Amino acid sequence: MNTSQFISKNLDKTIEKVTFTWQTPSNIALVKYWGKSNPQIPKNTSISFTLNNCHTTTSIEFEKTSKNTVVDFELFFEGKKKDDFKPKIAEFFKRIEKYCPYIFEYKMIINSENSFPHSSGIASSASGMSAIAMCLMSLEKELNPNITDEFINKKASFLARLGSGSASRSIEGPLVVWGNHPEIKGSSDLFGTKFPYEIHPVFENYCDTILLVDKGEKQVSSTVGHNLMHNHPYAENRFKQANENLTKLSKILQNGEIKEFINLVESEALTLHAMMLTSNPYFILMKPNTLEVINKIWQYREENNSNICFTLDAGANVHVLYPNTEKTEIELFIKNNLAKYCQKNQYICDNAGLGAKPQ
Ligand code: PMV
Repeated sequence: MNTSQFISKNLDKTIEKVTFTWQTPSNIALVKYWGKSNPQIPKNTSISFTLNNCHTTTSIEFEKTSKNTVVDFELFFEGKKKDDFKPKIAEFFKRIEKYCPYIFEYKMIINSENSFPHSSGIASSASGMSAIAMCLMSLEKELNPNITDEFINKKASFLARLGSGSASRSIEGPLVVWGNHPEIKGSSDLFGTKFPYEIHPVFENYCDTILLVDKGEKQVSSTVGHNLMHNHPYAENRFKQANENLTKLSKILQNGEIKEFINLVESEALTLHAMMLTSNPYFILMKPNTLEVINKIWQYREENNSNICFTLDAGANVHVLYPNTEKTEIELFIKNNLAKYCQKNQYICDNAGLGAKPQ
């Protein structure tokens, strides 16, 4: 795999002090990534809707210093110094230093905040890592003005992936594929690629209401979960199934077969959790209210001939997916019938978005 294309070159300019700010979104996978090899290479292809309202805003102030041997940075989250987040970011810098050697030449002050409530159970690693990656690429563009926007997005996704796999899908939108797949032009294990075919209008501005069923810290991190796919009895079949589902979903997204979309997306969500239930050690991230909500969604769909469906992340929260044309009635259903299963009745209304935005 050609990673040398991402080693920065021709960094001729000198920049003394500069600040960049980016807003980058979270994303929700339709075909799930679960299982990887080193360094952050997915075992199967995944695809996600980029979100719009759930995002991280990060600014990095870069100040030139003499060349350091360790990356020098400070981290503030929502205005407060956050030393407990530092090891994860330090590890990220370690993984990317080969591709961005200039990070040794700057002191970085990182200020970050999320649009969604802290510890809402919404993974902030995708939006958080992609925002840092975009700020680094803005600096790289200053140092080498010849790099193109296309290269910036590709390398930002490549860098973000090294922080958190799913973060590779948070640079562009509304649909991003990550992982090499023979039927998706331009797809790669190294970075996310915008879904390259025309999307049927039914999937435009697709809605995702995130029901905050459980806002607590996950008992099992996704790192541990991914690792449990090594020696998992169903792993090989699962990776094969995911790649086949991507072939099917690619066609569905183009032809607008929404009933097939519902079937595939819900099956993917339950399969992800089935992998957790059948890992050794096994674990359960769903909560009783996750199942209550799923049953209510099925009942509503049946009774109203609706196109509502759900997907799940690695947690108890439920993402309720539906076409924009059904927004009014489904939002009413959520408010009246599903909000009660959420902690403090909290949920977040979101929809597919277009990716990273400079601030
Ligand atoms: O990016 P990670 O390592 O946190 O893994 C995320 C995996 C899932 O969110 C469960 C699925 C996905 O494809 O986003």
